[in-house]
Amino acid sequence: MRNLFVSRNANHTTDRRRRLGTLVARCGIVVFCMCVALIAVSAEETDDRIIIRFSHVVGEGTPKGMEATLFKQRVEEALPGRVKVEIYPQSQKFNDDEVVPALLFGDIEMAAPSLSKLTSYASSLRVFDLPMIFPDVDAVHRFQESAAGQGLLGNLRSIGITGLAYWDNGVRVISANRPLRVPEDAKGLQIRIENSQVFFEQYSQLGAIPQRLPFASLIDVIRNGYVDGQENAWSNIRSRGVQRFQKYFTELNHSFLGYMVITNAEFWDGLPADVRSVLQEILARTTADVNELAREQASASRREIMETEGVEILTPSGAELASWREALCSVAKRFATEIPNEVLAAARAAVREEGFEVAARAGEPKPSPAPSCSF
Ligand code: LMR
Repeated sequence: MRNLFVSRNANHTTDRRRRLGTLVARCGIVVFCMCVALIAVSAEETDDRIIIRFSHVVGEGTPKGMEATLFKQRVEEALPGRVKVEIYPQSQKFNDDEVVPALLFGDIEMAAPSLSKLTSYASSLRVFDLPMIFPDVDAVHRFQESAAGQGLLGNLRSIGITGLAYWDNGVRVISANRPLRVPEDAKGLQIRIENSQVFFEQYSQLGAIPQRLPFASLIDVIRNGYVDGQENAWSNIRSRGVQRFQKYFTELNHSFLGYMVITNAEFWDGLPADVRSVLQEILARTTADVNELAREQASASRREIMETEGVEILTPSGAELASWREALCSVAKRFATEIPNEVLAAARAAVREEGFEVAARAGEPKPSPAPSCSF
């Protein structure tokens, strides 16, 4: 009995020790976790760098991807230890439709959506989407640099967004699984478009079925045959490998794919003045470089696609182009009535080169602008 009692007691003592040991170990873990958390918090507290999270939807090798990286490098070089730029490409953080709300909620600080995707917030930006009004990218630049063009950068201010710069990609061409030589060829085709009412009307006018889909799903919907075609700039087409699934590319160059670099107005206004002015200066410098880069990428991507086995690039003849123009000009005219007069007047002047010094690029004869829709 005694022994039993002793051994029970001994068991209790061992149990108590074990429980005490477990308790001490648990307390140790808790204390350790608290220390780690405290260190993390104090590290965060002492790291007072300004973080700029920059979200976009395309690959790092596209003009926008390279432009964003260049911006990051220049900012971190110019403002070491003060500003850090984090880039989130390929819809890693947000897709096309989510990016503006994300900026407004402070989940990111910068983005560069296509101008078309911003038209649901500022309808004046539709001027960039009107089909066949800008004969080339130089005309678009002239418009962007005009007072009205610069004024459009402030058009999202009422919803809390500041437009900082325009960045180029290039002109849009149409790809499809059958050759689109004249507008009638597009009848009945499902076409992936960006979220733009002008593009919706444009393809409806052609008797096609437009599908507004995010860029992230572009290649899947083509591969699965959910759509028969799409329109885009050459570098986006090449980067997503559209040429592996679609054989025909109609070089219509009917609209311009460009971006607006945007930021949360409150964030921007709250930056220290010296930081803001360095960022502004870097953006201006980067914009000039990236527009040149976009031009080079457009022709390199076009060349690569042209050399892809089985691919055909269809360049419309004069008569074919006239038939596209006839089909699409009514859409441009319809939407033009909703765009403020001063914006339209500046676009017209840019198209007609009124009041602009237009210099030929070194080594290139100045091309005569393709006749565009009068609007
Ligand atoms: C698209 O959705 O096709 C483009 O706007 C993507 C981009 O950002 O260039």
